[in-house]
Amino acid sequence: MKIHVLGSGAGGGFPQWNCNCHNCHRLRHKEMQGVARTQSSIAVSTDNRNWLLFNTSPDILTQLEAFPAIQPKEGVRDTGIKAIMLIDSQIDHTTGMLMLREGKPLDVYCTEMVKDDLTTGFPLFKMLGDYCTVNHHPVPIDGCGFTVPLIDDLRFYTQALKSKAPPYSPHRHDPHEGDNIGVIIEQISTGKKVFYSPGLGEIEPHVMAAMQEVDCIMVDGTFWTDDEMCTQNISPKRAREIGHLPQSGENGMIEVLNSIEKPRKILIHINNTNPILDDNSKERKILNDNGIEVAYDGLEIDL
Ligand code: MLT
Ligand code: MN
Ligand code: ZN
Repeated sequence: MKIHVLGSGAGGGFPQWNCNCHNCHRLRHKEMQGVARTQSSIAVSTDNRNWLLFNTSPDILTQLEAFPAIQPKEGVRDTGIKAIMLIDSQIDHTTGMLMLREGKPLDVYCTEMVKDDLTTGFPLFKMLGDYCTVNHHPVPIDGCGFTVPLIDDLRFYTQALKSKAPPYSPHRHDPHEGDNIGVIIEQISTGKKVFYSPGLGEIEPHVMAAMQEVDCIMVDGTFWTDDEMCTQNISPKRAREIGHLPQSGENGMIEVLNSIEKPRKILIHINNTNPILDDNSKERKILNDNGIEVAYDGLEIDL
């Protein structure tokens, strides 16, 4: 299977339009070695023609223009996007659907909780009813496998995760199973598997089991420290409080990933405050030394 990283940044992207933090300032002024990143999304295919999008970022139009394999091939209107799977209802993962309104009905796979948010707090599904329309396909959260029409040779196993519903959601402070999911994507013919989870607040036993069985992990790389946004005077919110396990420290993501032998390990959904965005930072060196990669826009993984 081919996994194409459309966007590797967290909400706001990098640099963020109104942000003058250490990273955003230095990237704009060409004072650091690193690359800009659009907001979080990947595309998956086994034939390089029919793609399943995971999440639809506000930056989707730029992302699609940068990716010829997904662009129109036949007839006057066409796309390689055959379906969309949402891992949550966050603004940075869903807003891009508005930009797809000129197309055919969108086949959207998501949990009932995400559908709930997207028909109430942020009623995208209702709004799109007057444009392309949305066909909602409920996804199980018990790890049962399922396939998606036109996305050949792939099977998906989705499981509920502990992270957070978006700030606008009625579930923000009242967590429900299915507010966030992680997905194992398996190529049926080869048995190769990837675990994708850009929002992960806690490593529950089923998450650990998923990470141990796959060939590649693409997982929450939002923050380096729990208090990253506090110490940079950006927000009083701590990483764990908003559903993101930080990389450093005791029981952090690095420790978790180091306890797993088999897979390739890639961080994705990197917030603009995170020092790992600087290719020459000591934090980036720690990742390198531990065999952990940092996703960038356009990264392609062949499994
Ligand atoms: C998050 O995952 O917490 C988001 O990136 C928040 C946002 O969309 O701004
Ligand atoms: Mn996000
Ligand atoms: Zn910034």
